[in-house]
Amino acid sequence: MKKHSLSQLGARAEDSPISWLMKAALDRPQLISLAAGFTDNTTLPLKITQEIFNRILGSSSKGRPALQYGTTQGDLTLRRLTARRLYSLDFPETSPENPPVSSYSAGNIVITNGSQQFLYLLSEALYDPGDLILVEDPTYFVFLGIAKSLGMQCRGIRMQSDGIDIKHLEEQLEGLRDSGGIRRLKMVYLVSYFQNPTGRTTALDKKKQALDLIRKYESHAGHPIFLLEDAAYRELRFSGVPVASILSLDPHQERVIYTGTYSKPFATGVRVGFGVVPDSLLSTILRIKANHDFGSPHLLQKLMGEVLSGPHYESHLLTIRRRYLRKSRAMISAMKKFFPESYHWETPEGGLNAWVVLPRKRRTGLKSRIFKEALNQNVLYVPGSLCYAEDSSRLKPNHEMRVSFGSASEPDIREGIRRLGRVFSELG
Ligand SMILES: Cc1ncc(COP(=O)(O)O)c(C=O)c1O
Repeated sequence: MKKHSLSQLGARAEDSPISWLMKAALDRPQLISLAAGFTDNTTLPLKITQEIFNRILGSSSKGRPALQYGTTQGDLTLRRLTARRLYSLDFPETSPENPPVSSYSAGNIVITNGSQQFLYLLSEALYDPGDLILVEDPTYFVFLGIAKSLGMQCRGIRMQSDGIDIKHLEEQLEGLRDSGGIRRLKMVYLVSYFQNPTGRTTALDKKKQALDLIRKYESHAGHPIFLLEDAAYRELRFSGVPVASILSLDPHQERVIYTGTYSKPFATGVRVGFGVVPDSLLSTILRIKANHDFGSPHLLQKLMGEVLSGPHYESHLLTIRRRYLRKSRAMISAMKKFFPESYHWETPEGGLNAWVVLPRKRRTGLKSRIFKEALNQNVLYVPGSLCYAEDSSRLKPNHEMRVSFGSASEPDIREGIRRLGRVFSELG
């Protein structure tokens, strides 16, 4: 007799480090968490949200529909505003009412419970156990959890400071073509703006080269291979220059999928995200979403629609960008002061994370002395090894860490980094 009655998926699903990291931060108030993916607390848009809720609920013509179920695909006004915003981010010099190309059509947008739900819906739509996807090495570790539970295999593509190493992508595709493995390849996944975990942004030229390569090798797969751009941190740019999305490279939107979120730029507690999907996948995603929840909370979509249609969104973005710039500077200057010279990091231009590379012999994983001693000293980071796919073609690096400047205050960021510095010097 089996010990449990779980489905294969249930048995494959592992404890997600994200749940543990977030709970640790909430359970131990004395802990300085440079790990949890929370956003800045003090700038959460309390007043704007209250004002808009009052406006919506103060009128029966707005309030009643908002408190009713919506549609599976999501509120049309919010989808239109999202399409227009994406278009104006990609083509800032023009801002038409209805963007002229299908990549930016409200009809191709699905509103989801955060972009996380979109990642899950898409995975359910595309993958069978044993299917393969190519991910950045390292990548967003919660996505790796989805992949694992659905029985997908992930292969890592090496990262450079401006995104994936295109040569390595081509080598992987060539190898898969030669081995026949390409028939299981469904997607390439890029977290292209201020990546979680490394903070790096993928250059537009690399997005284009990746798309060209996918098109080149696709005939060997016998089915479409998609390029998924996860732009969760796109709106959190506080320096550097803007980069257009992959939507701008595929105007008829056949092979690109894009996901974004209002969690990070507005409020994580509101948790409204979206996906932009090609026609060929749209009805499947909607059928699966109908099975999940037949539509995300309508009130929250109405809230986001109101936020986007007025001046609040832009003004809020200005506030939080300034804030994250200050916090990232506080973190970098503390690292310069307290970390050994042989440790490396890049200065983030946006997002919530910095990535620290230690000398190879220093271990940072959950079982390492550094991690345990950091926890003893009440400071938490994300071990870099959690962010690497199970890929037998290389050894999993275990000497890096993600430190987030999102939620901790500036004094706590300095203190957290000081404590980490102390751990490093105590453990020699
Ligand atoms: C890269 C990336 N994608 C997607 C998400 C999901 O965010 P949400 O579901 O709040 O939109 C996150 C959250 O941290 C993330 O880091």
